[in-house]
Amino acid sequence: MQYQWLKTLKNLHLWVVIFLFVVGIILHYPQQILGTDSASLFSFLGLSRHAVERIYLLLPLGYAGFFIGTRAGLASLVIAAAIMLPRVFVISQYFADALFETIGVIIIGSLVILWIYFDRKRKEQKQKLLTTLEESNRKLETTLKALETSHRRLKETQAQVIQAEKLTSLGQLVASIAHEINNPLSGTLVYTQLLARKVERGEADSEVTLDYLSKMESELVRSTRLVQNLLNFASQSTPQFQSVNLNTVVNHALDLVSHSVEKQEIRVFNELDPSLPEITADPGQLQQVCLSLIINAIQAMPQGGRLTLRTHVHNSKVRLEVQDTGVGISPENIDKLFTPFFSTKADVKGVGLGLAVAYGIIHRHKGRIEAHSKEGEGSVFTVTMPLQNESLEKES
Ligand SMILES: Nc1ncnc2c1ncn2[C@@H]1O[C@H](COP(=O)(O)OP(=O)(O)O)[C@@H](O)[C@H]1O
Ligand SMILES: [Mg+2]
Repeated sequence: MQYQWLKTLKNLHLWVVIFLFVVGIILHYPQQILGTDSASLFSFLGLSRHAVERIYLLLPLGYAGFFIGTRAGLASLVIAAAIMLPRVFVISQYFADALFETIGVIIIGSLVILWIYFDRKRKEQKQKLLTTLEESNRKLETTLKALETSHRRLKETQAQVIQAEKLTSLGQLVASIAHEINNPLSGTLVYTQLLARKVERGEADSEVTLDYLSKMESELVRSTRLVQNLLNFASQSTPQFQSVNLNTVVNHALDLVSHSVEKQEIRVFNELDPSLPEITADPGQLQQVCLSLIINAIQAMPQGGRLTLRTHVHNSKVRLEVQDTGVGISPENIDKLFTPFFSTKADVKGVGLGLAVAYGIIHRHKGRIEAHSKEGEGSVFTVTMPLQNESLEKES
């Protein structure tokens, strides 16, 4: 409290106001203070000497209002009135004029203070608004940064989820693929043994040898292709948008599951439109979608059935249909299919990410994925993709 007073006293403006008031008092009461009338010898602009003395009091009042504050201005108004009024009532010989002038000065003083008050308020509000604006701007920037970070993290997580689902699909494929690779290798082994025997017996003429070698080659090419296909699929490649033939992608996916298809006595109906135009897409991710849909279809037909793979152009869009004659999907489950971790496969084959990941991939390709199903009759999953996608090309 003491400190506050000290601070106020140190205020230069306060001293200026006090000085101006002292001058004002002397001007008002020269005889009483100085014993002479010579201090107030001026008059100008046709105003009487006393009027000028009164108007002069607006000076400390305005000064206090401007430089110290409205409250100081108001106090100055009271002081000014206190200086003027005694002369009006006690000394002045022209009571009416003096009172009129004094009231005039008080009214003008009040108006000045009011004006200062509202001007300050307006400025304060403006400043407040500016501060708020700056504050929200700063907050916005922080939020934006946080958003960018979470967007980056989300993208990383997305990539991890895609990879995780890929590994799940691979896990489901491994058993059948091992078999698939083993077959040509065993075949090759048999041919090698046969050939060795023929060479031993001297029966290996060039025609027979070439025939055996070409059979071995085709078997080996088949298994190499399968391994390559598998490696391509498993690799964590960065998304790459390019011109892709959807039919090729579907065929590669089918290659990977061919053993499961044969083992489960599933007949495949290949209705891929050979004149299908290319689309802009990431082939790796597209293959993952196809594989998820085909694996789901196979898993829905444990007792065998028909798997139809259909591509065609529809409304200037490329469309893929994966249809099965499996168990179908109940109406209460159809809305949950694309939810992460939704799975009805209690035999732990599935973690419920296949369709969720497929949905994400297709969504990023600006396409659509839908499911239609009748319980007990089968399901059809439809993927619709735009033909050209300039925004995707830029993204990649
Ligand atoms: N072709 C289909 N036929 C019947 N049900 C399906 C089919 N495809 C998906 N579903 C249902 O959708 C669920 C989620 O599929 P998905 O996301 O691939 O996870 P997961 O295969 O690991 O269970 C499956 O558990 C299954 O209930
Ligand atoms: Mg699945």
